[in-house]
Amino acid sequence: MALFRIEELVYGVDDLDRSAKFFADAGFTPASSGEGFRQLRTVENQLVTLREMNDPSLPAAPETGPTLRELVWGVEHAKDLDVISERLGDRAAREGDMVRTVDPVGLGLAFRVMDRVEAELLLRKHNQTSHHERINERLESYVTPPVLRMLHVAYNLEKAQNDEALAFYIDVLKFKAVDKVLDTGTFLQSEGDIEHHNFFLCFRPDKAGMNHVACEVWDFDAVMEAGNHMIEQGWKESRRAGRHRLGSNVYRFVHAPCGGRIEFVADMDRMDKNWETRVFDKNPGHHLWTLKSSGPES
Ligand SMILES: [Fe+2]
Repeated sequence: MALFRIEELVYGVDDLDRSAKFFADAGFTPASSGEGFRQLRTVENQLVTLREMNDPSLPAAPETGPTLRELVWGVEHAKDLDVISERLGDRAAREGDMVRTVDPVGLGLAFRVMDRVEAELLLRKHNQTSHHERINERLESYVTPPVLRMLHVAYNLEKAQNDEALAFYIDVLKFKAVDKVLDTGTFLQSEGDIEHHNFFLCFRPDKAGMNHVACEVWDFDAVMEAGNHMIEQGWKESRRAGRHRLGSNVYRFVHAPCGGRIEFVADMDRMDKNWETRVFDKNPGHHLWTLKSSGPES
C-alpha cells in the first residue's frame, strides 16, 4: 500500500482569473477552465483547481477567506483505496473513484489513484576547478522554469490540535515523522515517498489554516529565477531567499492570492526507511543561510 504524493489541491478563491494568473506566472500549465472553475497542472500532472469560495461543492475549511479547501492524495493502485477506507473506518466516505474524509484540523482530504507523468531529468553541467563538465558552452537563463511537482503542503493548526492530528496522520494514515520540532511542528512523509517531507503540520502561529505549498523546480538557479519572475509580474515575496536547515532545500516564498503562500524549492533531502525520527526540543533554526545584500541594485 503506498500513499504516494499530492495529487490535487482544491482552493476556494475570491478572484478566479487573478488566482489562475498567479499559478500560471509561477510555472503551472493551464489545463481547463469553465463557469466557476480554473484548473492548472504541474509537469508531473498534479492539479491545482480553483473554484469560487462560495461554491457549495467545496468542503468547509478551518479558516475563512480564500484558502485551500481540499488536499487530494494520490495512491498507487485502486486497491490502495480499500486500505485507506479500512484505516479511516467510520471517517471514510467512498465517492466513486475517491475516498473522502476530514482531518482533525478541519481540512478536507481525498484520496484517488495517481495519474503521474514523470518529469524528465535536467541537470546543468557543472564546472569546479579542474572538474569540467561544460566546455565551449554557455549557460542560458531559465526565464520561467516550469513547476515540476508540488512537493509538500505546510498546514497550520492550533497547538491543542497537535496530538490528535499527529495520531491521525501517523497511526491512521501511516505517515512517518521525519523530524519532530517540539516547539514548532512535525515534518511528515507519506508511506510511499522518500522526500524529507510532503506534509508539515505547524502549530507555531497557533491558528489553523493554509501555510504554503512547495513547488519544485530544477535547481538553485530555477528557484531564484522563478521568484524573480513572480516579482516582475507584481506578486510579493514573503521572506528572503535561503536554504532550510531541516530538508536542506533552497527556497523562495511568494504570497498567494488564493490563501497562504507558495514556496519555490529545489534540492530537498531524501530520507529512506533507514532514517530514524529526529526530535528537537527547540527549533534548531529555520535556515542554513538567507540572502543578505549590502548593495546597490544591479
Ligand atoms: Fe516548505
